[in-house]
Amino acid sequence: MQSGNTTAQPSRDGFATGLGVLAATLGSAVGLGNIWKFPYLTGSNGGATFLFVYLACTVLVGLPVMISELMLGRAAQADAVTTYQRLGGNKGAWGIIGVSGVLASCLILAFYTDVAGWVFAYIFKAMSGSIVSTDPNTTSAAFNSMVSNPIQSLVWQWIVLAVVATIIIMGVSKGIEKTTKRLMPVLFLLLIIICVRSLTLPGASKGLAFLFSPDLSKINGTAVLIAMGLAFFKLSIGTSTMTTYGSYFRRDQNIPLTATRVVLADLTVSLLAGIAIFPAVFAFGFKPDAGPSLLFITIPAVFASMPMGRIFVVIFFVLTAIASTGAMLSLFEVPVAYLAERHGMSRLKASVMCAVGLALFGAPSTLSSNLMADFKIFGLNMFDLCDFVSSNLLMPIGGLFICFFAAWIFGKDRIVEALSNRGALSNQGISRVYTLLVAFLTPILVIIVLLNGLGVF
Ligand code: PFF
Repeated sequence: MQSGNTTAQPSRDGFATGLGVLAATLGSAVGLGNIWKFPYLTGSNGGATFLFVYLACTVLVGLPVMISELMLGRAAQADAVTTYQRLGGNKGAWGIIGVSGVLASCLILAFYTDVAGWVFAYIFKAMSGSIVSTDPNTTSAAFNSMVSNPIQSLVWQWIVLAVVATIIIMGVSKGIEKTTKRLMPVLFLLLIIICVRSLTLPGASKGLAFLFSPDLSKINGTAVLIAMGLAFFKLSIGTSTMTTYGSYFRRDQNIPLTATRVVLADLTVSLLAGIAIFPAVFAFGFKPDAGPSLLFITIPAVFASMPMGRIFVVIFFVLTAIASTGAMLSLFEVPVAYLAERHGMSRLKASVMCAVGLALFGAPSTLSSNLMADFKIFGLNMFDLCDFVSSNLLMPIGGLFICFFAAWIFGKDRIVEALSNRGALSNQGISRVYTLLVAFLTPILVIIVLLNGLGVF
């Protein structure tokens, strides 16, 4: 393990306040992952038992990788590629970790902006009442008519890209920080409103039972793999998103504490989302179906069945749009910071280039619900391929390299210095446990789960 000093560039934009750091980082973690991935996966993979495995993955893998990324980013004060090169002793090869992060962020954005486009569209459709019906056949027909229309889907994806790019152009403190600081409290408030509404419905307890009843028989290798994939996706790690955000952290920010708070708050949002959705689903006798169909077909029908249903459908999609925006901002910032800092582009030019590039790069994903439905690689359409390659390959492999880099290249001495804010915090014990995890346990766990996922054993 090496030690040495890190260089800083004083004039970079960054998060101005401690609260802003928390809002932006939590804004990245909270997203579509909380609202449909977490509740459904928990409910269908063994309830409380899956939750326990997910928590173990979060503590043993998620939290250490998140701390690593934030720590490395702050130490280098640079975009993702430069961070790994600079801290790796200016050896170009380490930059590959950052390059893979830039790529993974673009791949995730390709399909994420597609789903977010549907969410944005649904706010307006819910307001006009066109998707609000108690009959799932009607809501299903409305959803299918939207996704099968290539122009409509593409235009909503472009709108989402334009909104995200506009906030990014405003800058790190004036754009990302200000927006997430305003939106996160609104998100919590809307979520709590929906939770209270859902829990006070007759028959709500069946939904809670679906979410929380332990079922040991469902825990197998695949469930563990799903739990770990979820931990990566949920915490926005392995794609250099947190590395880039870490580079905007203040020097006095307590990184282990911030990461722990983000993990806990993100878990709270996931649990609240489950509590908001499943009691209502069961109360009205709907099936707790998966993924997009739960979000876009079941939810409108469920909420439409309530008194003042339309308002709750609108609230639900506004909160989902808010959640997805915070996540997209962090993903978008990765290539923008790279282009601006490595290629000397203005933030405006880098953001516009990324938005246009992603409109093109994301189109095949969006068109896989219509014009390109039959175009498949390895049996996966472009949407599923982007999801698979980023979530199951690039994120865990990225996480693995980040652990290796933090433990063996950045090294023990620099870890102690960075996590204690150069001695200002007395958290030697935390640094020690963290170092042991990233040097041994975390990478071993990731390798086992990754190989298992690739069918090696
Ligand atoms: N954490 C986000 C969610 O749960 O929806 C998704 C995400 C954001 C994944 C940023 C990866 C990332 F880098």
